[in-house]
Amino acid sequence: MATTTKEQAQATSTEERGLNKRDAFATGLGVLVATIGSAVGLGNIWKFPSLTGQNGGAAFIIVYVLCTVLVGLPVMISEHMIGRTARKDAVNSLREVAPKGQPWWLIGAAGGLSAFLIMAFYSSVAGWVFAYAFKGITGSILSTDPAVTSQNFGSLTTSSWEVLFWQWLVLVWVGVIIVMGVAKGIERTTKRLMPLLFVLLLIVCIRSLTLDGAGDGIEFLLKPDFSKLTGSVVLAAMGLAFFKLSVGMGTMITYGSYFKDEQNIPMTATKVMLADLSISLLAGLAIFPAVFAFGFNVDAGPSLLFITIPAVFASMPGGSVFVVLFFVLTAIAATGAMLSIVEVPVAYLTGQFNMQRRNATILTLVLLAIMGAPAALSFGELSDFTIAGKTVFDLYDYATSNVLLPIGGLFLCIFVGWVWGFGAVERALTNRGTLSNARTIRFFFMVVKYITPPLVLLVLLDGLNVI
Ligand code: PHE
Repeated sequence: MATTTKEQAQATSTEERGLNKRDAFATGLGVLVATIGSAVGLGNIWKFPSLTGQNGGAAFIIVYVLCTVLVGLPVMISEHMIGRTARKDAVNSLREVAPKGQPWWLIGAAGGLSAFLIMAFYSSVAGWVFAYAFKGITGSILSTDPAVTSQNFGSLTTSSWEVLFWQWLVLVWVGVIIVMGVAKGIERTTKRLMPLLFVLLLIVCIRSLTLDGAGDGIEFLLKPDFSKLTGSVVLAAMGLAFFKLSVGMGTMITYGSYFKDEQNIPMTATKVMLADLSISLLAGLAIFPAVFAFGFNVDAGPSLLFITIPAVFASMPGGSVFVVLFFVLTAIAATGAMLSIVEVPVAYLTGQFNMQRRNATILTLVLLAIMGAPAALSFGELSDFTIAGKTVFDLYDYATSNVLLPIGGLFLCIFVGWVWGFGAVERALTNRGTLSNARTIRFFFMVVKYITPPLVLLVLLDGLNVI
């Protein structure tokens, strides 16, 4: 009761002071689609296949799925519930639900930093994707010779003005949608684009699976070789689980704050996880059979998408059409994810400083253009500039997936399990007693309190060679 009165009081004072009314998702379906839109992205189509290819196929996938279920899902449920309870940006949501004077909001602040770092390298890759979708139409990226496709990729990534142009184009594209708002921008765009992504992916998948020699690729995805699994590979799998589900940095707190009161959080999060896993597997099925069928290397890493794929498509009938479809669908996937990353600082700036959404977006994008440029230039102009042996691009990527997101997730679970406590969790996840999901909640609470934190800590310390 006390909370209801407090909420009412807050609502009136917000209106009285004439502050911005908080935007939110308009429909339950919109919540689901936008959240899937955040999870599904370059992670599925660029990171998942390249890491799987480098780290032994099925064995890596098994570890990744385990991390997704035991770590990613509990963190996502935690974030949604904190966001919806407080209905504020990530920093202020944590401040509100935490006991007075305890600095749990720092998780949100660290998350803000992660948002900038991720977006800085993500927008570079998205820039290449947009460039390839465009160049696919003119046909200039296709060649059956990997030496030529490698040269094409090289000439894009080493041309400073080209990479910056595409990166800025991506930032503007995302900014335009963000300015339109949560319901009218993010929700409407993802609702339109996500089904298209799914259909395009299915088409490419069918094409790839019906090639002669597709069997080896399927086998690679299904037959585990555990010999490749080292501590750092397991950390990479866990990092991917965080990155994939957009958790550990406040994205899902921010989205949770736009959820409907009657949204069933554990159910929604589970659906998002399943949809996301399915899209990754479909991406694997679209890529690996074709890669094997034409005898290319699977362990090309991050360039798999840009060097191997165009060569693979050039080798098959109708390839010039499929390559365009492929990069358009990747651009769509990247868009939904980027909207959710940029929404983190925008929600903070509008909530904390009562800044207009448009100004908050512009400020965020300018900062991103500044931080993003060194990442975009990491393959050309700045390729020799390394910190701890990593280019700026690799550093942003490594520091977020393998360090910041897991640490954010770890503290979030500790907070939920040990500080917030069962009563608050129960209130949040039963929608104040209207859902009867007692068993699910008890199970979730046990996992978030006793299983996820030690697991994350262990993988983190082992992967970073601390133990
Ligand atoms: N989940 C997105 C993807 O897989 C990336 C992302 C990470 C989005 C973190 C938001 C926050 O592409």
